[in-house]
Order: sequence, then C-alpha cells, then structure tokens
Amino acid sequence: MSIPKPATNENNPFLWQKVLDTIPDPFFAQDSDGAIIAANDSAAKLFGVDRVAQLIGNSSFPYLVPELRALVERTEPVESLGEADSSQSSEIAVQFPDGTRTFEFKQNRLIDDTGNMIGTATLAKDITKNVEDKLQIELEREQLKTLIDNIPDPVFFKDTESRYLNGNAMFATCLRANSIEDVVGKTDFDFFDYDLARSFREDEKKIMESGVGVTQEEINISPDDKVRDYQTTKTPIFGSDSDSPIGLVGIARDITELKTAREELRTRATELSKTLDKLKYAQSQLVQSEKMASLGVLTAGIAHEINNPINFVYAGVHSIAKDFEDVRAVFKKTEQLPEAENPKLAIEELDQLKKEVGFHEAFTAIDETLVDIRLGAKRITEIVSGLSKFSRLGQESWDVTNLHEDIEGVLVLLKNKTKNNIRIERDFDPNLPALVCFPSKLNQALMNLISNAIDAIDDGPGKGCIRITTQAKEKTVVVSIADDGMGMEDNVKAKVFDPFFTTKRVGKGTGLGLAITYSIIQDHGGRISLESESGKGSVFTLEIPIEQNTEESQNSKPL
Ligand SMILES: Nc1ncnc2c1ncn2[C@@H]1O[C@H](COP(=O)(O)OP(=O)(O)OP(=O)(O)O)[C@@H](O)[C@H]1O
Ligand SMILES: [Mg+2]
Repeated sequence: MSIPKPATNENNPFLWQKVLDTIPDPFFAQDSDGAIIAANDSAAKLFGVDRVAQLIGNSSFPYLVPELRALVERTEPVESLGEADSSQSSEIAVQFPDGTRTFEFKQNRLIDDTGNMIGTATLAKDITKNVEDKLQIELEREQLKTLIDNIPDPVFFKDTESRYLNGNAMFATCLRANSIEDVVGKTDFDFFDYDLARSFREDEKKIMESGVGVTQEEINISPDDKVRDYQTTKTPIFGSDSDSPIGLVGIARDITELKTAREELRTRATELSKTLDKLKYAQSQLVQSEKMASLGVLTAGIAHEINNPINFVYAGVHSIAKDFEDVRAVFKKTEQLPEAENPKLAIEELDQLKKEVGFHEAFTAIDETLVDIRLGAKRITEIVSGLSKFSRLGQESWDVTNLHEDIEGVLVLLKNKTKNNIRIERDFDPNLPALVCFPSKLNQALMNLISNAIDAIDDGPGKGCIRITTQAKEKTVVVSIADDGMGMEDNVKAKVFDPFFTTKRVGKGTGLGLAITYSIIQDHGGRISLESESGKGSVFTLEIPIEQNTEESQNSKPL
C-alpha cells in the first residue's frame, strides 16, 4: 500500500494548517483591517479559544489583556506600522489557566507581489523561562551588590591593566569619590601618589603573571583622614574558560585596632612573663627558705647529735693521754734500768710502778678508748655526709643516685628526732636500680615526708613506727613512707598539698613541705599519692621514673 502524498498546491488549506500547527510558538496573520486570516493551534490557545476556526475572520478580542489587545486589534491603518521590512517586537505577559507566561511578540508586515502592505504576521515566542532567568540573575546581582556594599571593608575589582571595574560603597568612600561610578575606568594613579600607585601596579602585575594572590599590610589614609593600617588581600579572578587571570578582587581590612590590640597583647605577654619570672624567683626563694627552715629545725638536733660523739672523742683522748702518761712513766723507769746501781731493787720498783699505774690494764683501756673514738668519729662523719648528701650543695643538675643511700642520709639527719620513741623499719628492694634525678631535690622530698611522719607520731600516739619501702616496678621506683601516727581527717587530706596549709602550731610548720614535695615529684615526671585514716596513720607513696629525658628537661630544672 502506498502512502498518499498531500497535494502541494496553494489550494490545499488543510496542508497549510497542518504546517502552521507544527510551529510550537503562537503564530497568526491578520489582514489590513486586523481580521485574523491564518493562525495555528498555539495561537488559538493564546487567544483562549479551542479551535483555530474560531479565530479566523475575528478582529475584536475584548477579553484579552490590554497590552495584547492593543497589539492585535488594529486601530490605525496598517501602513502606520512603518517600513515594509521592519518588524516590531514587544514583551507581554499572558494569563493562562495554569499560570502566567511571557511572550515576545514579533510582528512583521505582509507584502503582496506588487509591494503593497496587505496585513501583518505575528510570531509570539514564549520567553517565560528567559524572563525568569533574567529576573533570577538580576536578583542575584542585586543580592551580591547589596552584600558587597554592606561589607564594612573596602572591596574593589580591577582588570588586567589595574583599571577599576567595580567596587563597593565603602571603597568609593575610601577613595573620596561620590560613588563607585566615579572610580570605574580609573587607576590608582588617579587617586594615590605616584610611588604608592606604582607599587600597587607592580604587585598586581605579579599577581596577573603568577595567578597567585597576595595578602599584605599597607599603610593608608582612612576616610576620616587618619593614617591607618590595612591588610589587603588581592586575589586573581579567572574566567570560566581562561587559564590566566582576567582581573582581580581586592579586600582591604582596617587592622589598626587589631594591631594595637596585638601590640597591647604583646606588652601584656612580656609583662606577664616578667611577673612569672618574679613569681618563679619568689617561689624558689620560698623553697629555699623552707629548706633553710627545715635545716634550721635540724641544726639544733644535729648540734646535739654531734656533741655526743665529740664528747666521746674528747673523753677518749683525755683518757688515752692519761694512760699514756702512766705508760710513759713505766718506759722511763725501764730505760733507767741499765744504769741502776741496784738492778734488783730497780726491777722491784718497776714492777711496783706497773702495778700502781695499772700498766697492763692501760693497754686494754687504750684499745677500748680507741674503739670509742673511732665510733665517735664515724658518727660525726655519718652526720656530716648525711648533711652534705641532703643539701648536695652546688649540685643542681640531673645525676644518678642510690636512693637507699639517700634515705639513710636523711635518716641520719633526723636521728635525733626519731631517737627513742620511733622505730624505723626498712623494706628495701635489694635490686633497686640507680635513679636519674635531681638528688638534692629528691632528698628534700624524702626529708619532708619522713619529718611529717615523725611529727604525726610525736603529735599523735607519741610512740610508733615508720616503715620505708622501696620497690622497682617496671620503669619506675616506688617508695612508700608509712607511719602509724595520728593520721588525717578527710578535710585535712584534701588540702595537704596546698601551699601554706598546715595544722601545726605557728613556728613549727610553714605548710610548704608537701606542696614543694608535690612539685619536685612532678618535675621528675612522677606521682605522689596518699592514703590516711584518722587515728591510724598515713602512707605517702611516690612513683618516680628510673630514667629521665635529661636533654629535653635540661631547661626545666625543678625548683
Ligand atoms: N604523715 C602525716 N600524718 C598526718 N598528717 C600529715 C602527715 N603529713 C602531712 N600531714 C598534714 O599535712 C599538713 C601539711 O604538711 P606539710 O608538710 O605541707 O606542712 P607542715 O608539715 O605543716 O609544715 P612544713 O612546711 O614545716 O613541712 C600538715 O600540717 C599535717 O596536718
Ligand atoms: Mg611538713
């Protein structure tokens, strides 16, 4: 079956109507009186009728919106439309049941073979989307402009030749221009002195060449004629399809206050650091005086302690001297023997003298006294070595120490405090490794803890025991000092490490001992903990790392 071909001559109105209906945009033609002579389906919809036939011959459309009506209903002769080859276009919004659509109407003249105008042909293009897009773009542009204008900082745009393209209101004000329109097209040479303008231009050339923005501080005159500091950021702008910048955007922020505040902060920081130094100094003075105070408390005891062995030594020396005198008398008599006229008598007299002075006993007495003297001297040496160990004068650096020796040294110094009523028990780990520490500081900590334990027994039951335990545990040494003294109530326990907290009478305690001990242990990267029960006793436990990163902490010596 062959498909019939439509007749292609002008007498086939059906074909022409079909062709017209394929045009998606409304199209209609009018004769010189304004009567519609041809239209398509879209035009029928535009005119609000169902079929094209309802339009044909019609020249009056009272129901149309006035603008469209004015376009379609001819009130003047068609010739008044102007030149034959010109067309007129207008934008008209038309109401449809499903909303408003905007059309661009293009009206062309219809000219016959002889050149006479016989009517018009109108094509309406639906530009609703374009109009909406345009409105959206305008809205966005307005929003952007409002936004930029409301930025309190001056903002400007320049082209590749550093000519101003745009800017915000603040920028115009900064340049003392009435509006940004007075700035557009000009360059910095129109506003700033030559050198400054040239430096700006050179900076911007570099930005254009490198495509990399810069931020720098500049000094400039503000709108209120004051010299102010600005931080200006210039960023290149790239077009959507270009690799090199097509201009730049600059934002200048007034940082005068910020700089002043920064300066102020710097001054404050320096002041603070000075105050901190002073505080540190005061603290070290306090620590020193605490140490001196505890030394002071000890001095009396130590003097007494040294006095005893010294008396021993003196008494010994005295008794040896006396024994020697007797021995010397015997020797003298012995020496005279060979010259004696009556040797027998002389020997009897010598035996008599020996008996009298207790010659043989004298040797035993000298031996015994020598033992006493040695003992006394040893005790003095112990005390002196304990003292020097405690203070390790001049030694303010990390060193390896034998903790057990240090504890013994402290105990020697405290001996006169513990004497009769306090028993010291040692539970020392025989494998305790040597410790890297600040020995004099650690001794001070041990002294504070043991002194407190002694006080807790003296002020409590009056008699008791202090048990000192050492133990190597992984990378730490654990030392605990336990006493069965008066113990602490919870409210005391909560405050013991506070500086100046003391329950002791004025003159006896400064309340700094444990605060200092705490900071010493902290400086060693260690920990101190406390268990105590009122009436039963207390245990202070130290955990101290065996090794120290002495290089890193070289500058942070403990107090
Ligand atoms: N082992 C202990 N048993 C009971 N109470 C203790 C013990 N150790 C410390 N305290 C309490 O903690 C307080 C603070 O101790 P700290 O060593 O800091 O100061 P202090 O001994 O009073 O004075 P100082 O400055 O002379 O050492 C003590 O006054 C005491 O009340
Ligand atoms: Mg104390």
